[in-house]
Amino acid sequence: MTAPNFSSESVLQALNWRYATKMFDASKKIPSDTWSALEQSLVLAPSSFGLEPWKFFVIDDPAVRQQLLEATWKQSQVVDASHLLVLAIKTGLNDTDVDRSMARTSEVREVPLESLEGFSNVIKGFMKTLPDVDNWATRQVYIALGQLMVSAALLGIDTCPMEGFMPDKYDEILGLPEMGYHAVVVCAAGYRSEDDKYAHLPKVRFSLEDKVQHI
Ligand SMILES: Cc1cc2nc3c(=O)[nH]c(=O)nc-3n(C[C@H](O)[C@H](O)[C@H](O)COP(=O)(O)O)c2cc1C
Repeated sequence: MTAPNFSSESVLQALNWRYATKMFDASKKIPSDTWSALEQSLVLAPSSFGLEPWKFFVIDDPAVRQQLLEATWKQSQVVDASHLLVLAIKTGLNDTDVDRSMARTSEVREVPLESLEGFSNVIKGFMKTLPDVDNWATRQVYIALGQLMVSAALLGIDTCPMEGFMPDKYDEILGLPEMGYHAVVVCAAGYRSEDDKYAHLPKVRFSLEDKVQHI
């Protein structure tokens, strides 16, 4: 594969254009090929040891989204955005998940499973040192969120990452615990409304000198 060749200007333009969208235009839908690229950006997110300790739930049913609105402090993005995603961790990650990941690597890379045994033991050993495996998985879900948001910005799609929701209510409404998952963060995606005053506010950030230090 050849290396991509986006200019610094075009990447920074997309990142400056992006903002946490408060009001979406409910009449505009993301085309299916663009949405598919965004789903793939989630799947392509990196994770520690490549374990992918997550699942991304796309909430297609408007009635379910209406229910989720109540569990999101009535933030209208939940119902107005073209698409709504719930990023969830697989709870209680254990040796079986490592075995599954090794089997996938063996299949995709066409290497014998036995050749991955050392790596597998390293991961299993590492995981036993973790005080809280769900916390570890949670931190990784945010990498997927970031990758999704940047991909969306590059495609001219607006997003709003959301922690202002009740994870346990989401779990209950979506039946996540029964599937072995727990909601971590939400992301609405679509097109900004012309009436969203936040779209026109200057971006607030501390200076680069304040936040990036060369040592
Ligand atoms: C993890 C996370 C959770 C957030 N939760 C919410 C939220 O529930 N509702 C909301 O309107 N914005 C939410 N935001 C948006 C932030 O307030 C916003 O990203 C920040 O103020 C910077 O502004 P900008 O993204 O427009 O540049 C969240 C952002 C992040 C990264």
